[in-house]
Amino acid sequence: MKLWNKGFEPDKLIEDFTVGADRELDLRLARYDVQGSMAHIRMLESIGLLESEELPVLLEALEGIAQSIERGEFVIEPGVEDVHSQVELMLTRQLGDMGKKIHSGRSRNDQVLVDLKLFMRDELKSVAQHIVKLFNRLQSLSNEHKEQLMPGYTHLQVAMPSSFGLWFGAYAESLVDDMEMVLAAYNIANQNPLGSAAGYGSSFPLDRTMTTRLLEFADLHYNVVAAQMSRGKTERAAAYAIASVASTLGKFAMDVCLFMCQNYGFISFPDNLTTGSSIMPHKKNPDVFEIMRGKCNRLQAVPNEISLLTANLPLGYHRDLQLLKDIIFPATTTLCECLDMCDFMLQHIKVNTDILDDSRYDYLFTVEDVNRLTLSGVPFREAYKQVGMAVQRGEYQPTRCVEHTHEGSIGNLCNDKIADKMNKVVEKFAF
Ligand code: ARG
Repeated sequence: MKLWNKGFEPDKLIEDFTVGADRELDLRLARYDVQGSMAHIRMLESIGLLESEELPVLLEALEGIAQSIERGEFVIEPGVEDVHSQVELMLTRQLGDMGKKIHSGRSRNDQVLVDLKLFMRDELKSVAQHIVKLFNRLQSLSNEHKEQLMPGYTHLQVAMPSSFGLWFGAYAESLVDDMEMVLAAYNIANQNPLGSAAGYGSSFPLDRTMTTRLLEFADLHYNVVAAQMSRGKTERAAAYAIASVASTLGKFAMDVCLFMCQNYGFISFPDNLTTGSSIMPHKKNPDVFEIMRGKCNRLQAVPNEISLLTANLPLGYHRDLQLLKDIIFPATTTLCECLDMCDFMLQHIKVNTDILDDSRYDYLFTVEDVNRLTLSGVPFREAYKQVGMAVQRGEYQPTRCVEHTHEGSIGNLCNDKIADKMNKVVEKFAF
């Protein structure tokens, strides 16, 4: 039986096609749906659309549903379209007409909107927490290995000295920028759409400020049409943030694969964290980071997928919007899994020492030697030429002395300043 039953049941084919994956996906929205309903009925009581003795009865019934959700017992029954219908059905079964009252002044359109806002807010909070964990790991590895040098490359050609301190620390700082994106998406999610009803408000005197306070939103989506238009926009902002983190993580995963390669040989992992080959007995492959790289590359397609799904949709609700759930729900989960896995692997990374003693890296030091000559009074262009000619003649002998002191360089990583930057962004989340 549908909420919108008017004396006929839709064809089964039509129902299956339109419900799609909702019965499964909506389970993730269930607790937020109950939370939204609790705020909505408190507000309905305050404006006289529910009797004061009805409110505690309804709240208790909703609390019972909330507990069944926490216990993992809540299901969306066959024939029931979505989580919103299921919750209302359970209330009506239990309380009869009282259960039928709670939908005054709302539509499933703003119900799903509020569920998604609450859901995205929590998901982005979880993403932020996962980022902080990996950030801390990268920073501590950077500090631990700040003395260990490694080659720096441009064009994949040996370029200048770098260090493990720089490498790990670079990805930590890059995550600060990603965190700004997550914060922006969080702020967009943190606005109350409830009361926009089908997308054009209601003639009931709804107190939207009250539900905003009850649901702890930072503000309202005031304009009811803007509130409805935030469906898709909220997900898109989240997708950009997810893609931003994924691009950092995917790049790092690529570096790891490269640096694990025998021709580089900079890092390794314990055997049990590598994978083998069915034909080559010697293999210890970096499959974890390859899967991570692949997943992160796929995640970078998510904003595009959302843009295409919502392209050309005019204002107002359209059922197409339901499909956003299929895209964004797995995206946050996958990203958190990748962040977790990266943190786990980094607990076991082994970093090789004395890499630069190998003569194949001699030319890393040419700039150091040019600069040393310059500091001793030789004009830069002249010093550059002297070293360049020595290289050309095959006579260049590196001094292998590296002394970088400016902010953000090998000898002065400024990790504490980077940590301050991260803390400043994290403080802006209203957790
Ligand atoms: N499952 C629907 C969605 O996610 C709920 C809203 C249905 N609204 C409607 N007018 N059919 O969009």
